[in-house]
Amino acid sequence: MLDAELEGRRFIVVSNRQPFAHVHHKNSIRVEKPPSGLTLALEPIVQATGGTWIAAASGSADKETTDANGRVNPRPPGVDYDLRRIFLPPKLHEDFYTGFANSTLWPLCHIAYHQPRFEERWWRAYEQANKIFADVVADEVNGQPAIIFIQDFHLALLPQLLRERCPKAVVAQFWHIPWPNPEAFRICPWRRELLRGLLGNHLLGFHLPYHCNNFMDTVDRELQVRVDHETNAVVSSTGAGTHTRTMVAGFPMSVDYPRIQASANTSAARREAAKLRRQYGHGNRKLAISVERLDYSKGILERLHAIERLFERHPEWREQVEFVHIATPSRTTVRAYQDYAHAVESAVAGINGRLATPGWTPVQALHIYVEPEQVWNWYQAADAVVVSSLHDGMNLVAKEFVAAGRDNAVLVLSEFTGAARSLREAVQINPFATDAFADGLARALAMPEEERRDRMRRLRWRVSHYDIGAWARDLLRAIRQREFDAQDFAIQSAIVSGPGPRQPGGADFPRGGRLACAGSARTADFAGD
Ligand code: F6P
Repeated sequence: MLDAELEGRRFIVVSNRQPFAHVHHKNSIRVEKPPSGLTLALEPIVQATGGTWIAAASGSADKETTDANGRVNPRPPGVDYDLRRIFLPPKLHEDFYTGFANSTLWPLCHIAYHQPRFEERWWRAYEQANKIFADVVADEVNGQPAIIFIQDFHLALLPQLLRERCPKAVVAQFWHIPWPNPEAFRICPWRRELLRGLLGNHLLGFHLPYHCNNFMDTVDRELQVRVDHETNAVVSSTGAGTHTRTMVAGFPMSVDYPRIQASANTSAARREAAKLRRQYGHGNRKLAISVERLDYSKGILERLHAIERLFERHPEWREQVEFVHIATPSRTTVRAYQDYAHAVESAVAGINGRLATPGWTPVQALHIYVEPEQVWNWYQAADAVVVSSLHDGMNLVAKEFVAAGRDNAVLVLSEFTGAARSLREAVQINPFATDAFADGLARALAMPEEERRDRMRRLRWRVSHYDIGAWARDLLRAIRQREFDAQDFAIQSAIVSGPGPRQPGGADFPRGGRLACAGSARTADFAGD
């Protein structure tokens, strides 16, 4: 099915994070998957297309499992695509990944009240790392037709670097995190360079139309480009009377619904889930869980405050529910993440110290990595899953739980996740509003069985009708559509602009100019609507 959309072209996925790493373990080497919604969701698509994935190395045994051409060789069992690794020098990687990506862009794009830091050295490393990626991708494409599908905020400069070097390729990118409003973004000293880099894309995808609008408003303010609201495109001049056109559209990312549902419903998975319930929910108690990376944007402290408030405002729930939070250590080289991990540990200890009774521990914290299949078993075991992100592009945990959870389980979901736009039958909460959050938890825990089943049925309908396959098909179709639009555009702009004089400074359009405002933005957040 996806092959038809590729029309015989190579499919090359580029991301900083690799889908699997080789790691030394005792006297052997084992394959480890990262705690990354991005790689978990994208892997079935690359498998289905037999494409090539280019990513930065990250495992202790990556070198010795990679051949002279940078390819993992042999491929691990069950992997039907090539993984080409980039080995960034360690200092460069630290400044690029720990520095600019995770200490500048991450807090800049998430309104989670963590101040971004702007270090010249990190910016230089970010530029350098993007250039290294461009060299490897251009080498891989080798002048041939291809679809280059770039992922996320680590590689904002890459599209522009590839446009000239891969003229027969279509360059598309998906931005997995939110795009903030222009006021928030304008504090970045390198905002224009980042925007120009992104406008190298033929297609730029976000989870939500809301993020698309923020992006278009940002380029409109910062660059001399034409924002075409009728076709959701940004038209920029490349000098000498030529223009490039970047289509901007929302594609709400989803999960591999059939696979997750099948895996969570085997008898082995059910047995495992029952074991987890006995171990953590102690049979009669309700079991509420959370699964995330140990990241301040996930609102873990806010959730812990709300849990404590639940037991104050609704004491009938004391000894009746156990909260288990599974938070995988993440970006542990970033200072803010180290501090956050300590703050979470001491908040958990504080709650348990104040409230635990013999035989009842209100909150159990597992700061470990859990394999995806085992996470799905946890979803089967849970009466409720609580997602409390302060700001989240989508949040695939919520959708995975809908695919894997029991028919009578409840989803409690932050209204500041992209997923909240379509998962309307979740109990939606504001993680900043502690009392209301606590009441939301109480409502979820006390919800009658019939209502829980009805809500879960509707949620399942929504996620199953727009799963990761539909997301990938939509994106690839948009790429094809863009190619048709580009042909129309070349004809129209020749008619409209003719050979007339150009604006001073090479700018073809007045700032803030718009082609038309007649159409409405394509709203792809239709999952289940
Ligand atoms: O949510 C943004 C994101 O980059 C995802 O795309 C990815 O799954 C996750 O963060 C993990 O981040 P990292 O690659 O830094 O571990």
